[in-house]
Amino acid sequence: MHLLSVLLGKLLLWLLVVGWLVACGRKEPAATSNTVDRRKEYIRKIPGENEPVPEEVVSRGEVLIAYSDCYDCHREEKKSKGPAFSDIAERYPIQPAYRDLLARKIISGGFGSWGNPVMSPHPDVSMEDAQTMVYYILSLKYRPVH
Ligand code: HEC
Repeated sequence: MHLLSVLLGKLLLWLLVVGWLVACGRKEPAATSNTVDRRKEYIRKIPGENEPVPEEVVSRGEVLIAYSDCYDCHREEKKSKGPAFSDIAERYPIQPAYRDLLARKIISGGFGSWGNPVMSPHPDVSMEDAQTMVYYILSLKYRPVH
């Protein structure tokens, strides 16, 4: 009986050591691909062509955003209360359908596309101004970021 428990103890120890070695050996690649997967899952890039946006529309959008409350919750390249503008640019192709979808979301607010927090509505922003803001945000995909 005593011998059996000693043997069992040794077996357990051996399993622990082997388990530990296997876990350590696997750590690096697993962590890296998890990060890539998580980022992919977060961005959920929509495939599609990008239409060109005139430079003056982009600059007008930049000004409109600077004078609104967007930067309370958004930053250009880092997630804060809302998603980073560069991440939004990575997800959506520059096309009228996505421009309008996002413009409507800016005006009426909403949640569910990027995780838990809710974007407040902006009923005073006109559809045209919201579309111009969206053009500015989506055009960030043309800038070298990260
Ligand atoms: C109170 C905080 C807050 C403010 C102010 C705010 N946002 Fe947001 N915004 C968010 C959050 C949170 C999300 C993510 C919502 C979601 O997960 O669907 C978001 C998402 C977005 C999206 C992506 C929507 C989608 O469906 O992918 C755009 C574009 C956007 N915001 C633009 C703006 C602009 C432009 C302004 C300024 C007029 C602004 N936001 C002001 C919090 C805010």
